[in-house]
Amino acid sequence: MERYQVKGAHPLNGKLQVHGAKNAALPILAASLLCDSRSGQCCCLHNCPQLSDVEAACNILRHLGCKAVWQDGALLIRSGDSSDCRIPDHLMREMRSSIVFLGAMLARYRQAHLTFPGGCELGPRPIDMHLAALEKMGVEFTQNGDGLDCCVPNELHGASIDLPFPSVGATENVILAASLAKGETILRNGAREPEISDLAGFLNACGGCVHLEKDGTVHISGVERLSPCEYSVIPDRIVGITYLCCGAITGGNITITSARPDHMRAVFPILEEMGCSLKIDGDQVSLLAPQRLKAVKNVTTMPYPGFPTDALAPVMALTAVAQGTTIFTENIFQNRYKQAWELCRMGADIRTEGRIAVVRGVKMLHPAFVNCTDLRGGAALVIAALATEGTTTIGEIRHIQRGYENLPEQLRQVGACITIL
Ligand code: UD1
Repeated sequence: MERYQVKGAHPLNGKLQVHGAKNAALPILAASLLCDSRSGQCCCLHNCPQLSDVEAACNILRHLGCKAVWQDGALLIRSGDSSDCRIPDHLMREMRSSIVFLGAMLARYRQAHLTFPGGCELGPRPIDMHLAALEKMGVEFTQNGDGLDCCVPNELHGASIDLPFPSVGATENVILAASLAKGETILRNGAREPEISDLAGFLNACGGCVHLEKDGTVHISGVERLSPCEYSVIPDRIVGITYLCCGAITGGNITITSARPDHMRAVFPILEEMGCSLKIDGDQVSLLAPQRLKAVKNVTTMPYPGFPTDALAPVMALTAVAQGTTIFTENIFQNRYKQAWELCRMGADIRTEGRIAVVRGVKMLHPAFVNCTDLRGGAALVIAALATEGTTTIGEIRHIQRGYENLPEQLRQVGACITIL
């Protein structure tokens, strides 16, 4: 089992390039299934990160008869015809977001058989909103053991759908299914995350008709056919924020490049309140950290454009060594504080109760053997270790590898001492 070894307390200085967004790439890969490749044309995805979750999505596509190959840093996908509309359990379990293939399979094959995505990393992750929305479009579901049989007995048609909560995955599934459905779908209270806009951008580049309104209403007109296209995935806002946090906790001076600062706006006031100075210049953000960070009063996660739940753990690592007390309120997932206990093993003072976490900043963390609990929680442990005198060992790094491309190599470029054991 691979581990990271981090020797901390070195300020990080220099430039880090932000790679493509995993959470945008995954639904786009599902969408590539909808493209008609009979002419031999492929979808060509640029800036697609090479991550284990992306590989898991490629394996699902391959299982469904598609070809997915890397060529000169781009991912080429040629959709194929499979008589098997079933995603086997081991592929569903490889990646929690495999559920986004549901909408794509229904659009393409009018049927799908899948098991529920495995585990529960951040608390229960139900799919009731996905299913209720797709039912309105003419899909019928039958639960079968630990699996789900989905079929369209008549036709897949447009519908008027109101989501009770702007779920990212449910919005993606509706957009995917509606793109090849008959007629128009209007989805109200859809998620407004940049990854949704990227999915819409990809589908429109393939000849689809997806229109997003500022208030979260999505209009999708089903088309007869989608054609393969060349597309570039947006930069990963959470990776950008993580890199900035690495600079902030070490008293460093980090510039992230190839970023979309407009997608990270909700986090900037928090970093500034902690004493960091930020400079935005086109696709770059520079952060100059103070000697010691200051606590922030409140950090409250909200759907986009609010403070992202995925940035909570990285920012929590900063507050663990900041001067003063910070209160976190997590409004998206039930169990987003698993990293808190691991941070406490390094000397952090964090108490959690339900959706609230109270972090009393300590002067210094100490090295320990800690384990990643989930993707962003793992990133928080790396951030904390960078500020710790001595050597911290971080286990279960497969979680980090799901969402960060070559993290140790990246951080070494800016002066971090981090190796894989
Ligand atoms: C996506 C992101 C994840 C991010 C999250 C919120 C991907 C691959 N993952 O996850 O990194 O943290 O958005 O920005 O893009 N819910 C239900 N019923 C449903 C669907 C969701 O109760 O049918 C609940 C969930 O349990 C959760 C909340 O709604 O509490 C938000 O979930 P959702 O927005 O769907 O997140 P994901 O798409 O799973």
